[in-house]
Parts: sequence; C-alpha cells; structure tokens
Amino acid sequence: MYGSSEAVAGALLAESHARDKAFIATKVWTEGREAGIAQMEQSMRLWRTNRIDLMQIHNLLDWRTQLATLRDWKAAGKVRYTGVTHYTPGAFPQVEAVLSAERVDFVQINYAANDRDAEARLLPLAAERGVAVIVNQPFGGGSLLSGLRNRPLPGFAQELGCTSWAQLLLKFVLGNPAVTCVIPGTGKREYMVDNVHGGIGDYPDAAMRKRIADAVA
Ligand SMILES: NC(=O)c1ccc[n+]([C@@H]2O[C@H](COP(=O)([O-])OP(=O)(O)OC[C@H]3O[C@@H](n4cnc5c(N)ncnc54)[C@H](OP(=O)(O)O)[C@@H]3O)[C@@H](O)[C@H]2O)c1
Repeated sequence: MYGSSEAVAGALLAESHARDKAFIATKVWTEGREAGIAQMEQSMRLWRTNRIDLMQIHNLLDWRTQLATLRDWKAAGKVRYTGVTHYTPGAFPQVEAVLSAERVDFVQINYAANDRDAEARLLPLAAERGVAVIVNQPFGGGSLLSGLRNRPLPGFAQELGCTSWAQLLLKFVLGNPAVTCVIPGTGKREYMVDNVHGGIGDYPDAAMRKRIADAVA
C-alpha cells in the first residue's frame, strides 16, 4: 500500500544505526489470520527489526482476526503496541464500538481544523479509555492547505511561534489534549522541516484553537 516506504525506512535506520531511537509504526491490511501474519512478518523483514513498536489494523479490515494475532504478538514481545486506523467520519461509530469493547493501545483517525467530527465522541472516548491518538490528514489531505495558500497568516500565529499555515494547522491538532501525535504526509524535504516546527514551542489552548478553526472556516 505504501510502495517502498518500509524498505527505504528500514535501510536508512540500519545504515544510521538509529533503530533504538526510532518508533516504528506500520499497518496490517488484509483478511485472514495466515495472510495477516505473512504481511506483518514481511514488514519486520523490510524494517530489519524483530520488534515493531506499533502495528495498526488498517481501516479495521478483518479486525477481530488481526487483533487476536496482535495480542499474541504483543505477549510474545514482537509488537509493543496495538492499534486500529480509519480515515473518515462515516467510520467513527465503528471505531468507537471497537474502542469501547476492546483493549487497544492506539487509534489513528482523521482530524483537522476544518474536519472536527472527532471532537464530539471519539477523542473524549480515547482519552477516557487511555488510548493514544494518532491524527492523519491534518491538512485535509492537502486541500485545506492549498485553499489557504493565498490567505495571509493571522496575526495571532506569532503568539504560537508559527510562521506558516502548516505549522498553525499542526498546532491546532496537537493542542487537543486527547491527541498524542500527528502524521502529516509529504514527499518534500522543505515541507518536512516546516512541519517539524509545528511540534516546537507552545500549543494552543481551547480558545486559541477556536480562533484557528474560525480563521480557516
Ligand atoms: N486510513 C488511514 O489509515 C489513512 C488514511 C489517509 C491518510 N493516512 C495517513 O495520514 C498521513 C497524512 O495523510 P495525507 O498525506 O493524505 O494528508 P495531509 O497530511 O492532510 O496532507 C498532505 C498534503 O499536504 C501537503 N503538505 C504537507 N506539508 C506541507 C507544508 N508544510 N506546506 C505545504 N503543503 C504541505 C502535501 O504536499 P506534497 O505531497 O507536495 O508534499 C500533501 O499534498 C499519511 O501518512 C497517510 O498515510 C492514513
């Protein structure tokens, strides 16, 4: 699903002897126990590791089967944490049902300054259950940022030390107390540098997050 990313990241970690500093997160996305095991073993080979930090069940595909395997793998020390992912508010009721009924360590969902359905139930539920939250699509898959391209950055961005819309949108997400981590996507080095600055300095409180949401509305 993600092309050569696991092979490239695995090679880079090995060459730079950085495995111990890295938190390796990947996903399983298939039906059936044997196919799930084969896919996860392939991930381990590509990452050149005998332990994955976080293995997530992509879009809840055959999640009962894969979660059963992941529990065994966690007990055996082959994964540190288990997780489930989704990318659309239409799936939130199903994600909520899984979080309520099962023990998982992480949930990965979509959340952005113009995509706030997760605030109603899912983020509070994750906080209540002690489940770590990874946010995908913080830029609305890119459409939110491209729509803001010609709009000047609001003056209050300075108060948060932000010099770009991308940083402000990342701080919006990270400022939510239920959120653990955000994973903006990019293939550009200058965007990665820009995005890292979204994780430095102060985070917005609820009032400031409302100002950010109002500014992008
Ligand atoms: N079901 C799931 O589990 C699921 C579903 C969707 C996404 N995800 C994951 O979530 C992550 C993010 O999703 P996404 O990539 O679809 O959406 P996104 O992070 O909201 O947006 C990515 C877009 O923003 C642009 N961008 C990134 N940083 C920028 C910057 N500093 N300035 C200007 N533009 C910038 C990128 O441009 P360039 O492409 O030009 O760099 C790309 O077009 C990915 O890792 C993806 O794998 C998971």
